[in-house]
Amino acid sequence: MSFPESRPRRLRRTPLLRKALAETRLRPEDLVLPLFVADGIEAPRPIDSLPGHFHHTDQSVLEECAEAVSLGIPMVLLFGLPADKDVQGSGAWDSNGAVQRASRNIKERFGDDLLVVTDLCLCEYTTHGHCGLLKGEAVDNDGTLEAYAQVAISQAAAGADIVAPSGMMDGQVAAIRTALDDTGHDETAILAYSAKMASAFYGPFRDAAGSTPAFGDRRGYQMPGANSREALRETWLDIDEGADMVMVKPAGPYLDVISRVADEVPVPVAAYQVSGEFGMLHAAIEKGWLERDPAILESLVSIRRAGADLVISYLAKEAVHIITGTSAKPPQ
Ligand code: PBG
Repeated sequence: MSFPESRPRRLRRTPLLRKALAETRLRPEDLVLPLFVADGIEAPRPIDSLPGHFHHTDQSVLEECAEAVSLGIPMVLLFGLPADKDVQGSGAWDSNGAVQRASRNIKERFGDDLLVVTDLCLCEYTTHGHCGLLKGEAVDNDGTLEAYAQVAISQAAAGADIVAPSGMMDGQVAAIRTALDDTGHDETAILAYSAKMASAFYGPFRDAAGSTPAFGDRRGYQMPGANSREALRETWLDIDEGADMVMVKPAGPYLDVISRVADEVPVPVAAYQVSGEFGMLHAAIEKGWLERDPAILESLVSIRRAGADLVISYLAKEAVHIITGTSAKPPQ
């Protein structure tokens, strides 16, 4: 059948019809809210490069979590900023570090009503800003795995439901799985940042975390953005090493990679709408060049349509307000 019998526009007549027939849906439970917790601050400190986001205190992170729970967001992803950094990044496995304290407090207060995901990396904790231990000016892959194992154990012991290794060391998922199992944390899941690209879109995050490499860059360990076959290889390696879930990051510029990964793998797929994607949207909205709510929604629905089960986004709360029609807050 073709025109004039066939008329696709019949199904686009009213908002309700369009809503009922949406192939891809974005629900609060698809979203993960990233949060920064810091040591050595008295009050929440606004992050200049991520408007509307803060370095949180022990108290203010709980308030953010309460808001997430009330919005139906099931997971928060925690990043930590230590008071002091060192060459080893030892703050990352401090049992009393900001991430560990927040994990304990969140689990105590919200129990099974909120899942705690902890970013597992050293770059926020090292003076040089690299994701691992150094040997000369290079990042020592195998030595770093031992450090990651310590971080994983301390995060799981603090109550993290899911640890999310993001350092792109070879063998990191296996090292973490073994360390967790050997210490009785066999129920702690691993969300592997599997296809994590060496991306220009992490700029605002690095300003927020003070984790810009002091020398060199991350191209020796993060993936080249041009390679989607390699992304599949990284993803399968992580699954073989025991990853329970995998991630593609960034999301928007890599929708084809999300799609390939989601078509192939038998585990849940997350995608991270990173700080630079947030920054582009925010800046264009602020300039009046993009209409806020539809632009935010389109960016997130596209990531879901590509195949992501979970979308990590700095716009998670805004997205829920938009979906549920309670959008009130102007962009900050
Ligand atoms: C840590 C880490 C980074 C991000 C998430 N985990 C920074 C990086 O790799 O430089 C970036 C997140 C974002 O840009 O929003 N390795």
